[in-house]
Amino acid sequence: MNYRHAYHAGNFADCFKHALLVDLLDWLARKPAGFFVLDTHAGAGRYDLNAPEAQRTDEAARGIRRLIARPSPVLDRYLGLVARLGLYPGSPALIRAVLRENDRMACCELHPADSSALRGQFRHDRSVAVHERSGWEALGALIPPKENRGLVFIDPPFESRDEFFTLAGGLCQGHGRFGHGIFAAWYPIKQMATVRGFHATLAQCGIRDIVAVELYVRATTDPGRLNGCGLLAINPPYQFEARARAIATAVLEGVGDGEPGAGISVIRLADE
Ligand SMILES: C[S@@+](CC[C@H](N)C(=O)[O-])C[C@H]1O[C@@H](n2cnc3c(N)ncnc32)[C@H](O)[C@@H]1O
Repeated sequence: MNYRHAYHAGNFADCFKHALLVDLLDWLARKPAGFFVLDTHAGAGRYDLNAPEAQRTDEAARGIRRLIARPSPVLDRYLGLVARLGLYPGSPALIRAVLRENDRMACCELHPADSSALRGQFRHDRSVAVHERSGWEALGALIPPKENRGLVFIDPPFESRDEFFTLAGGLCQGHGRFGHGIFAAWYPIKQMATVRGFHATLAQCGIRDIVAVELYVRATTDPGRLNGCGLLAINPPYQFEARARAIATAVLEGVGDGEPGAGISVIRLADE
């Protein structure tokens, strides 16, 4: 496990995934009944963008710092949470900010330093359980939740070559256990062939109601670069496609350099 999110916090991919995550959470919070969120790859929870790790890559300069400098009204809710939460909020901090008294979350993080940081943040918080265990394993153990409604957020590091395969397997397994839950999984886009192979694997698994939202900062011609990223949503909420299109467009307008091939797409991979 070499991946440390502190080097990448607040980059364009974080802005994209976190703005969409907040939309999904707000949807769940519209109804009074309690919900559960499983964050399978939680990271450290909060990130100091002035710390040496973040400064070394300075990825936030082409991500959240640009969005703050040129704020779009479509991103008001996400940017408001970023401003309110202080240090750049990772997924656990954003999720926690939306939970109400009767909601719960569980975070899984395998790296001991990051899971210890998470424990520190949520030590006295009865709504949050922190597990230093594999998020893949949690898909077979922590869902379905007793609340019977909720979101599973899957944000793997994509360190290993077979991570797309593992993700597809995890989604199939998780969906088999919590068929009406919302699943949201982030993935990198380097070359399209890998991504379309992943989509095809999911379709074979027989899952219904899948939407993929993708953002490309440039043409996907150089497989050695992070040319874009996607968020795959299973059982997305009502009118998510339209909102996701607006959010992805606003993020791209904020962070993009107008490179050839930049754009967004919202693809329905399987009907309801
Ligand atoms: C992309 S980062 C997560 C960022 C976080 N979701 C956020 O949005 O702020 C991926 C994290 O997964 C952790 N990790 C790697 N393999 C894991 C596994 N099998 N189970 C749980 N966490 C894992 C890494 O240590 C890393 O912190």
